Amino acid sequence: MIKLGISAFYHDSAACITNGNIVLAAAEEERFTGIKHDSSFPKNAIKWLLHSTVTKISDIQEVHWYENPQIKDDRVRRTFAKRPIKTFFLRQRYKKEQLRNSPQALLQALGYTGKIIYHDHHYSHAAFSYFTSPYRDAAILTVDGVGEWETTTISRGKGNKIEKLISIDFPNSLGMLYSTITSFLGFRPNEGEYKVMGLAPYGDPSVYFKKLEKVLCHTSNKFYLYQKYFTWEYSQKIMFNKKLCQLLELPPRLPEEPLTQEHKNLAAALQKLYEREFLKLVETAKNITGSQNLCLGGGCAYNGVANSLAYKYFDSIHIPFAPSDAGSAIGACLDGHTKVSPYLGPEFQDHQIKRLLKSYDDNVVHFKLDEDLLIKRTAELLAAEKIVAWFQGKMEFGARALGNRSILASPRKPQMREKLNRVIKKREAFRPFAPSVILDDAYMFFNIKEPVPYMNQVVKAKVNFLPAATHIDDTCRVHTVTKKQNEKYWKLLNEVGRITKVPVLLNTSFNLKDQTITLSPKQALDRFIESDIDFLIINNFLIKKKHA
Ligand SMILES: [Fe+2]
Repeated sequence: MIKLGISAFYHDSAACITNGNIVLAAAEEERFTGIKHDSSFPKNAIKWLLHSTVTKISDIQEVHWYENPQIKDDRVRRTFAKRPIKTFFLRQRYKKEQLRNSPQALLQALGYTGKIIYHDHHYSHAAFSYFTSPYRDAAILTVDGVGEWETTTISRGKGNKIEKLISIDFPNSLGMLYSTITSFLGFRPNEGEYKVMGLAPYGDPSVYFKKLEKVLCHTSNKFYLYQKYFTWEYSQKIMFNKKLCQLLELPPRLPEEPLTQEHKNLAAALQKLYEREFLKLVETAKNITGSQNLCLGGGCAYNGVANSLAYKYFDSIHIPFAPSDAGSAIGACLDGHTKVSPYLGPEFQDHQIKRLLKSYDDNVVHFKLDEDLLIKRTAELLAAEKIVAWFQGKMEFGARALGNRSILASPRKPQMREKLNRVIKKREAFRPFAPSVILDDAYMFFNIKEPVPYMNQVVKAKVNFLPAATHIDDTCRVHTVTKKQNEKYWKLLNEVGRITKVPVLLNTSFNLKDQTITLSPKQALDRFIESDIDFLIINNFLIKKKHA
């Protein structure tokens, strides 16, 4: 059975093609359009999928849509109906969007007239996490902003079945609470949450915690958010009102204003509150399933600090490589377990790269090396504190670069972090970078309980010689690498370890400020030339600037 999976119209639109439970290819729309978190119908991703898997649209037997538009529509209409006057213009806009965003019409325009199967939003999150996990028995916890009505679910996975046990509905949403404070702190919701997470260790959570926790209350298994502080039900522009400012006794920060200690304290309080609420859900998941294994899904599963705390109740935790809505395109297609790597995107052949390099002759020189020599040279450059853009094979699916579209550097000097943040990424100095490490050595350097292949847990570093990849509170968002996962990257880490005695590299996604992760060799070359990256490696081509 050939299926096309689609997620769209919230953020991180994506599509995939599966055959049985094998994922043939998958990509996010943003990589093709260059619009970060692009939420539009993923027509470019679909076009590429059909081409790369040599599939005609008529070969697609079923389309699996990651959520149920009818139930979502019910939530939107009922919510608007609570305040008919206040939401008048929103309703008009929503009606227009509804017409534009009909899955059936959009698929028809691509020539598809077959069956469309709609899944529950949180089921797709749960399915992606559970069916890509190694477990046949697990608790599944999904937490995000909002799906149709649901914002949080706890399910039990047993064999090929997912049984939902608890759900919490909009407007009670931990994801939206996190986004609201992100917006209060002057960052863009659905994007700035990483900044808030990075900022939190610089603050004192106790300053705002008691005030902030007043926005919610609990019954036995659920949390409720007092809507008097929020505008989620009637505004798409601002997520909070002046009552929240009064509660916190703090004015909201404008994006261009400096970050003060107060802002850091609020970020810390939010992270602490999120961790407390998340752990309560984890505890409930443990109590009602009795499982030793936990699968996490939904955008909130990118909160690596909170994720690591779940070991308090579970022996093993699985977080897939794209827990947010992008991964749901895959989740919607799965009805059983699968082994899938995150390397599901476009790849390029040497003859294409060679041809392209000719047109960049004025700017760069290149050397084609055999793999062993390439790895040796690259490791030497990294050991000599050079910054290397590393472009290999198939592009990753999900928000993280996992060694195929990465900017790499040595983590051994603190100046490297500053240089990468200031010169290359042009972003806030406080933002941390993640270390990649050979799995066998990871236990020596980091306080991990099991492999962390997708960079979604934040753990304490056991050593003090990785300053560029260690955050202010001695934590790291670690990425463990095995030969099976990514052989070439694993070899590179090994060679770096042989030269420096530290098989660890600082790994950040290959993109510059406000850009999506690099998709093609052309994009790689353009970004390399415009930036201060020292060397670019595309497959086995070592590329150097001519006028550097
Ligand atoms: Fe979601």
